[in-house]
Amino acid sequence: MEIKKNEITAIVGRSGEGKTTILSLINKFYKVEDNKIFIDEVDINDYDESTLRNNIAYIQQSPYIFNMTFRENLLLIKPDATENELIDVCKKSEIYDFISSTTNGFDTIIGENGITISGGQKQRLAIARHF
Ligand SMILES: Nc1ncnc2c1ncn2[C@@H]1O[C@H](COP(=O)(O)OP(=O)(O)O)[C@@H](O)[C@H]1O
Ligand SMILES: [Mg+2]
Repeated sequence: MEIKKNEITAIVGRSGEGKTTILSLINKFYKVEDNKIFIDEVDINDYDESTLRNNIAYIQQSPYIFNMTFRENLLLIKPDATENELIDVCKKSEIYDFISSTTNGFDTIIGENGITISGGQKQRLAIARHF
């Protein structure tokens, strides 16, 4: 398959047909051995993991949310983000109003794996974390 630049590609298929596997491969969670994947004509095996992962935002169906504050969860990927940047990404991810409504806002502690927030809120937080 070829995924073209500047286009939106949706990979659709029944359960177990390999959608997640494609995402795992392009994030180099597994090594490509029998076939080849090229990104901009460069073999994926020639990229290091950090280059790939700094350029690919992979939001999983059930993202892992740590038992820390909203702020700490958001800063995991970009530790030097400013308060204004956090507010901005949370607004874009449509989670800012919810965070603001909690007792301590960004400093509210979310339970183990986001026990106190909904599935959709976890996904929004994961999207904000990747902006
Ligand atoms: N880590 C793994 N090791 C071996 N087989 C796997 C692994 N993960 C998924 N599979 C198998 O690979 C196939 C594709 O799985 P997956 O990519 O998760 O499908 P999808 O996301 O399209 O539902 C399935 O048959 C699944 O059981
Ligand atoms: Mg899947």
